[in-house]
Amino acid sequence: MRTVCVHASVTYHILIEKGSLSQSGPYAAQVFRPGSKAAIVTDDTVASLYLETVKRSFEAAGFTVPVFIFPHGEDSKSREVLFQLYDFLIEQEVTRSDFLVALGGGVVGDLAGFAAATYLRGIPFMQIPTTFLAAVDSSVGGKTAINIPAGKNLIGAFHQPSLVVCDTETFRTLPPETFADGVAETIKYGLIASKSLFEEMEQGHIEEKIDDIVTQCVSIKRDIVEQDEQDKGLRMILNYGHTLGHAIEKVTNHSVTHGHGVAMGMLLIARLGEKMGFHSPELTQRMERCIASYGLPTHYDGSVAELGESVLHDKKRSGSIIRLIVVKNIGEAEICPLDVDKFIEQLSEVQ
Ligand SMILES: NC(=O)c1ccc[n+]([C@@H]2O[C@H](COP(=O)([O-])OP(=O)(O)OC[C@H]3O[C@@H](n4cnc5c(N)ncnc54)[C@H](O)[C@@H]3O)[C@@H](O)[C@H]2O)c1
Ligand SMILES: [Zn+2]
Repeated sequence: MRTVCVHASVTYHILIEKGSLSQSGPYAAQVFRPGSKAAIVTDDTVASLYLETVKRSFEAAGFTVPVFIFPHGEDSKSREVLFQLYDFLIEQEVTRSDFLVALGGGVVGDLAGFAAATYLRGIPFMQIPTTFLAAVDSSVGGKTAINIPAGKNLIGAFHQPSLVVCDTETFRTLPPETFADGVAETIKYGLIASKSLFEEMEQGHIEEKIDDIVTQCVSIKRDIVEQDEQDKGLRMILNYGHTLGHAIEKVTNHSVTHGHGVAMGMLLIARLGEKMGFHSPELTQRMERCIASYGLPTHYDGSVAELGESVLHDKKRSGSIIRLIVVKNIGEAEICPLDVDKFIEQLSEVQ
């Protein structure tokens, strides 16, 4: 087993191990109150694959296990499902001595995490990520959120999990394009913080060393989150490619998934960075080759001008300045403040 320890406002461990779903109960028993309720929150797809194993493991470890299952998909990260979940927790008499278990991808983690942050003014929770993206990104760092019609993740809270158990065997059942979403985030970690990780991604065959790759990613995220838990500065570099990635997700009504949007977003920023003289064309080409080798998109087919419009309304924009994350050398990210109008103008010239 690989263990990564996070010292944020809460200190917690991330356990990465093949087959750990069946051990998730005993692991939880080392962290949570014995005999308490472990309310599992999951979606229908994950439930049909992994719920029984996890539920049995928690029950055997002495927990009472109410289960809340909602339909899979981004649309469920909503006010409606959130309030159904609150009602369920009340009905099941879940108290502050109990905890939630988010079993699934980023949608489950964000929704269950936000419910845990707000129900009874906050109860503990645990993450069991079952997508590659959730394992390397959303299950770590304590950002939780739901979507509202005005935009994605607009209602949220920082709430750290008390434990993360990652069973990389679960990635085997992912549709290839969902696995590729995690690949995009992993390439991002390499680009912003680790040349050797990027090189490993270039070499391919990552399934064989997936535990090590997840460990590297969460360690990078841990190092950044420990310095800037509340996203006031440094943590922004984790958003490399995300401003445009989010815009692509938004204008395509989420038919483009998060990782696919990030892949295109990183390449648009690289082309823009190249044009502005921040780095050589070789860097863009190398990124493009690596991203394409995993079947991820390298070009955005829609209107880049429309993306610019969407960025204008991005919540991360402060005043007339946009803080662009730029990779000048592989493994090193920088925050470059840029006038929004200049950004939009430059962007309209890249594709
Ligand atoms: N909080 C954060 O820091 C953070 C970071 C990145 C992304 N996110 C959020 O995460 C969400 C995307 O996460 P995601 O890509 O995991 O999406 P997801 O949770 O919707 O999972 C994708 C699909 O895969 C299915 N699935 C999950 N595990 C499976 C498995 N092992 N086998 C087969 N199918 C499985 C799900 O049912 C779903 O249909 C977005 O809402 C995004 O905003 C949050
Ligand atoms: Zn992301």
